[in-house]
Amino acid sequence: MPRIAVLTSGGDSPGMNAAIRATVRCGSELGLEMFGVKRGFAGLIEGELVPLDNRAVGGIIERGGTILYTARSAEFLTEEGQGHALATVRKWQLDGLIVIGGNGSLKGARWLQEQGLPAVGIPASIDNDIYGTTMAIGVDTALNTVVEGLNRLRDTAVSHERAFVTEVMGRTSGYIALMGGLAGGAEVVLIPEVPTALEWVSRQVEEGLRKGKHHSIIVVAEGFAPKGTKPEKGSSIGRTVSHFLEESGSIETRLTILGHLQRGGSPTAFDRILACRLGQAAVRLLSEGESGVMAALSGQQVVTIPLAKIDRPSGNVNLEIYNLVYALAN
Ligand code: F6P
Repeated sequence: MPRIAVLTSGGDSPGMNAAIRATVRCGSELGLEMFGVKRGFAGLIEGELVPLDNRAVGGIIERGGTILYTARSAEFLTEEGQGHALATVRKWQLDGLIVIGGNGSLKGARWLQEQGLPAVGIPASIDNDIYGTTMAIGVDTALNTVVEGLNRLRDTAVSHERAFVTEVMGRTSGYIALMGGLAGGAEVVLIPEVPTALEWVSRQVEEGLRKGKHHSIIVVAEGFAPKGTKPEKGSSIGRTVSHFLEESGSIETRLTILGHLQRGGSPTAFDRILACRLGQAAVRLLSEGESGVMAALSGQQVVTIPLAKIDRPSGNVNLEIYNLVYALAN
């Protein structure tokens, strides 16, 4: 019986559990012996594996986070750590590995494939910044969390006639800010892909006031940097934007940082369905002898994308949508 392990790595995202469940249940149907690696690549280094049968993954489709735990393993980037990880692969006689995670995790899968371990990736990251997939697991749930937050903030923004700066996740990707802003009816969206001067932001808010808008919702991605500046590590760009608006004197401003709230929660139907489909595809690929690829979503279709292409930009942030946000803020 081929022995296949599954791990979750990097930032958790809602739907990872549904993906684990799908790999285990479809894998056992295909005659594979399934194992879970705890704490991602850190667990592979430490040899923390557990057998996973169909019952072990019961009652998790609706749970956020990951039952396998996750980590960002700096050690896996070292020669020593990699040596230990390969020793675990040999010790447990693994015939294949499924990696559920974002860009860094999928690069780890690619490296293991290059070392001779058949590996297949499943894209999961709330940032939606992975090449080759229209949607990664967890994006839809995170977006709904952002929109729910914006709805609540709008209530109080309207009542007090204030501006609300809402900082959302996305160190290098403005996807959540852009799509969350569009769906939440934001007046301004600030993303890393479009450096914008803060003076322009306050002019935009003032323009709204002139048009009779007495409140403003400004969504800013954590990785945004005002035009001509670089992102500052460890400081909140939301705070900078909020302070600038308050100082400009045209409107009272408050700041909300949504932070890790965006990473938790029960996955939406969309994320569960995506996770089920990609989980099934990943084990099928391995059982058919295909590896070095990621199971991904292209439009409505599940497709395979070579892990060799993972360094490419995702192209998921669409400037037409950026312009639409401003067209609708009129
Ligand atoms: O990669 C997903 C993500 O949530 C990013 O949006 C965010 O910048 C980062 O992880 C936060 O990482 P951590 O949980 O390690 O602080």
